[in-house]
Amino acid sequence: MQRMDRLTAGGHSEQDVALANSRATCRVATLADAEPITALAIQVFLDTYATDGVRPDLASEALSQYSREKFEQRLQDPGRTFVLATLGVGLLGFAEVLSESLSSPIAGIQGAELIRLYVQPRWQGTGIGRKLINQAEVTGRQAGAGGLWLTVWENNTRALGFYDRLGYSDVGHTSYTMQSQSFGNRVLHKALGSPASAGPFEA
Ligand SMILES: CC(C)(COP(=O)(O)OP(=O)(O)OC[C@H]1O[C@@H](n2cnc3c(N)ncnc32)[C@H](O)[C@@H]1OP(=O)(O)O)[C@@H](O)C(=O)NCCC(=O)NCCS
Repeated sequence: MQRMDRLTAGGHSEQDVALANSRATCRVATLADAEPITALAIQVFLDTYATDGVRPDLASEALSQYSREKFEQRLQDPGRTFVLATLGVGLLGFAEVLSESLSSPIAGIQGAELIRLYVQPRWQGTGIGRKLINQAEVTGRQAGAGGLWLTVWENNTRALGFYDRLGYSDVGHTSYTMQSQSFGNRVLHKALGSPASAGPFEA
């Protein structure tokens, strides 16, 4: 059926943008959230990386690394926080953060690590990613990390543009091995303020 709602300059429904701004809220996940996180992670992973069809290596990665059991294990890791953006009971996206200070692949760059930031395709471009990364930064600051770092596939231009807009600097190169194949990644970093300057966790 043809959608009748008006679109913004970014191609989004004005209704979705208004809903994302006014009603989407953030909270920390519990073990009970494992199933929707798993489903959304597979959806976003394939939408982002399987642009030329679902190759066998991508299918293996999705089914091995993005299984419910894997997310249940990650949700029970005390050093790891999942921040969820939801609209009522519906999951719109999540940020997965290792909050203790860890060394990045680049000498001298350390801090909390943003492992994944995934927004459901329909809601991308409506401000959900910004909400989630703000809360990931609060999580890092509260844990006493001086910075937040992450790695992004070098051809993920959309994500690179987003992180640049959010104040992240490109500090170097690393690689990620997926199903025996190596992919170039950029390492990005942003300094965080002191724990005292960490604002409250915004609902
Ligand atoms: C990358 C991603 C997390 C961004 O989230 P999003 O919800 O689409 O981004 P937002 O709508 O919150 O955008 C926040 C700001 O970044 C800007 N922005 C977003 N993408 C941009 C781009 N490619 N280039 C420049 N600016 C960009 C927006 O215009 C917005 O600016 P404003 O708030 O000043 O108006 C999301 O697109 C996504 O989940 N992508 C697929 C998975 C992925 O690649 N994750 C990252 C690697 S783990």
